[in-house]
Amino acid sequence: MAQEKPAAEGLSIGIIMDGNGRWAKQRGLPRTAGHTKGAQVFHDISLYCNELGVSSVYFYAFSTENWIRPAEEISGIMRLFGEYLIKALDYEKDNIRLKFLGDRARLPKEYQVRMDDLETRSAVKTGMTLNICMNYGGRDEIAHAARTLAQKVKDGQISPEEITVEAMAGAMYSAGQKDPDFILRPSGEKRLSNFMLWQAAYSELIEMDKLWPDFTRADLDAAIAEFHRRSRRFGGV
Ligand code: IPE
Ligand code: IPE
Ligand code: MG
Repeated sequence: MAQEKPAAEGLSIGIIMDGNGRWAKQRGLPRTAGHTKGAQVFHDISLYCNELGVSSVYFYAFSTENWIRPAEEISGIMRLFGEYLIKALDYEKDNIRLKFLGDRARLPKEYQVRMDDLETRSAVKTGMTLNICMNYGGRDEIAHAARTLAQKVKDGQISPEEITVEAMAGAMYSAGQKDPDFILRPSGEKRLSNFMLWQAAYSELIEMDKLWPDFTRADLDAAIAEFHRRSRRFGGV
């Protein structure tokens, strides 16, 4: 029987893609094999989000803390990301806008050029915004926003009083997009691990025991259903 699609029109979703290493370990494979499978799942779930009419999806791919991992694992992740930057050209046929959130300065120069190019080419798209958080840290993002606004004060463009919540939101990497309605974390961990600290103020947190490489479209359906069961109050009654 064909399943009915969950109501996800206009939703904003954050996904912490976690559990790749454990998935590989369970199979006696190198951790990189988990990242390879995880990257395939990411691609499929990104397309599914677009099919569902999601407005923004944020995928946590690599954190500002992940650099402490073994060099071999990092180069495996960077290679996969490089491959993705080429594959992402496929989105030209889809109505998807691509955005990369995070500090690019530490990434290879040729990646930075491709990232800029993909963002520019897809900026005309009107459908879902697909955000890939690469060398992303929530604290780094907040510090970056503070520096941007401080510079504007120094240049006389704004006064200190104009550093409001709205101005800060507008200086985040996610400027202009909706905060995540819910943040999903597979692999059973119950923490944000520096993901979207500013934007998560009122996000519903949904965790799942499944490891990311095992994650399916049906699991996203289940997460959306769980989100709709939550009662959001935003501080009200
Ligand atoms: C998430 O999977 C991917 C990255 C952090 C890059 P992990 O590699 O953290 O997998 P576990 O948590 O060790 O299983
Ligand atoms: C968060 O997962 C980062 C990404 C999924 C990219 P981690 O595996 O790095 O988080 P911790 O170390 O378990 O908190
Ligand atoms: Mg992990």
